[in-house]
Amino acid sequence: MTEKSSEMSDGELIEKNLAQLRLKPNLQGYDGLRRTFKWGDAEELVDWFPDGQINSVYNVIDRHALGERKDKAALIYDDGNGNVQKITFLEMYRETNKFANVLVKLGIKRQDRVFVFLQRSKELYVSFLGTIKAGAIASPMFPAFGPDAIRDRLLDSGAVALVTSSELAKRVYPIKEQLPDLKHIIVVDDADANAGEVSYQVEMESSAEDFETVPMDPEEYQFMLYTSGTTGKPKGVVHAHKGIVQQTLTSKWVLDLHDEDVYWCTADLGWVTGVVYGCLGPWSCGVTQVGLGGRFDPDLWYRSIQNHKVTVWYTAPTAVRMLMAKGDDLPAKYDLSSLRALYSVGEPLNPEGVKWALEVFDNKPFHDTWWQTETGSILITNFPEMPIKPGSMGKPLPGIEAEIVDEEGNVLPQGEEGNLVIRPGWPSMMREIWKNESKYNEYMRNGWYYTGDTAMIDDDGYFWYVGRADDVIKTSGERVGPFEVESALIEHDAVAEAGVIGKPDQLRGNIIKAFIVLTPGHAESEELKKDIQKFVKSRLAGHAYPREIDVVKTLPKTRSGKIMRRLLRAKELGLPIGDTSTLED
Ligand code: WT7
Repeated sequence: MTEKSSEMSDGELIEKNLAQLRLKPNLQGYDGLRRTFKWGDAEELVDWFPDGQINSVYNVIDRHALGERKDKAALIYDDGNGNVQKITFLEMYRETNKFANVLVKLGIKRQDRVFVFLQRSKELYVSFLGTIKAGAIASPMFPAFGPDAIRDRLLDSGAVALVTSSELAKRVYPIKEQLPDLKHIIVVDDADANAGEVSYQVEMESSAEDFETVPMDPEEYQFMLYTSGTTGKPKGVVHAHKGIVQQTLTSKWVLDLHDEDVYWCTADLGWVTGVVYGCLGPWSCGVTQVGLGGRFDPDLWYRSIQNHKVTVWYTAPTAVRMLMAKGDDLPAKYDLSSLRALYSVGEPLNPEGVKWALEVFDNKPFHDTWWQTETGSILITNFPEMPIKPGSMGKPLPGIEAEIVDEEGNVLPQGEEGNLVIRPGWPSMMREIWKNESKYNEYMRNGWYYTGDTAMIDDDGYFWYVGRADDVIKTSGERVGPFEVESALIEHDAVAEAGVIGKPDQLRGNIIKAFIVLTPGHAESEELKKDIQKFVKSRLAGHAYPREIDVVKTLPKTRSGKIMRRLLRAKELGLPIGDTSTLED
């Protein structure tokens, strides 16, 4: 409980002048709604098939394509090099229908797992949504993943198909033999695909434009995403079609999307923010979304806002800090007057970030939002109509009961730090950890869902993030499990043992730091450390490697041989060491 990065801003308040907002907030009268709102009220926001069946993608694409929004741009895809494609809801409808037909032809069955491993592109959205339409479970994978990370996910889920590009496919070949369930590799940019592979282009060309979106039981699954915990390999967090109810509601109430908005979510589709708020939720509201290719680049980002006249922008604290570091002259060069509301998620947003936005974006603050891969949509947030306390995550969504409790589940008084918990049962909550009931049960204790975060609630009911209660590392807002990094490290010849922690960092929130014991015959050198970093990057992921490595003689372990990361962390940060009664020596 040490990474208290959101210092309280003594009673500081950013008031909103509601009369001056360009559009009336969709949610008004929060206090009243918190008393009266029932989840049933939100079910009217989406369309249902007869007998209470539903398909999230019918809501995300079909209903707009079959109605008045058919010629409206769903996606403005900007590849970052000046090429801009506008794709209407009708085109998205036809394309996703065609892709669903491709899957049916390949023999993909209801609730089969189909992975999408692509850089941002039209095909990424089409294959993700087309999969869900067809009744299969879609799982996007972050394009920075290496062979080990890919294998863990495809193997655990028993994926039968993978949609990828000829470039990214190269990371799959080394592990393909280890994946007996993987029957189809669909390559988007290769018209004459390798033997045994399916050409997306060829199949799409001959595929019919009509498809009956498959009606699903609301509890059947739409997508799954692997995420990290303290121990073990990444776990498959599975989300049901019914989640679209809350994904739509929060896009309306929190992101405050209106029909005329041009909305931009900067998250990659490989993370839950990209899936839920860079795809499903906003499109369910019928809003035009910007998709930007290429890497983070302040110039490009400001230009994207200017050129596409973005009105609502959802991004992450590390990006905000990186933009801040570039100075205020840069944004002044662009016309950013289209913006009307700004949001952030993924890690604590410093009060300075919230207030910086007031300066450079003409009096518009960032609204911090809190949620997790497991929660499936925003649960605690700053709402447009509400004053902001810079540094606070805001208040629970109507329908959400959130508390601070101790290990026994007792609710703690206001102002005390403890476990942030939510009462289970919200529509977008994960339905299972794929084939791992005990992992799922670890979250559920004393009638609460334990988030793994610690927080406190102030006298006005605002929630303040304190830190993680576990060893999960948030680096640049991305979630990394120490065990995965340790596993990749010890695969390197020179590494005998490894312990991995998150180390607080001004820009990235945390960086990954590794403590390693070398195998005999290897001596510490900068060259060796670089080689180890490169090794982890290429095996695991481009973002999940240790930026700092310390060579040590031994690692602190419990008598049963478990590495005590808590001690490594305490030592690194100069914190009290705490209880060491289980220490080996
Ligand atoms: C963890 C979840 C779902 C959004 C992307 C992250 C941290 C998330 C905030 C916030 C402080 C935050 C928490 C949480 N986190 N939002 N507003 N302030 N911390 O999803 O990868 O599943 O990570 O991100 O630690 O538990 P995720």
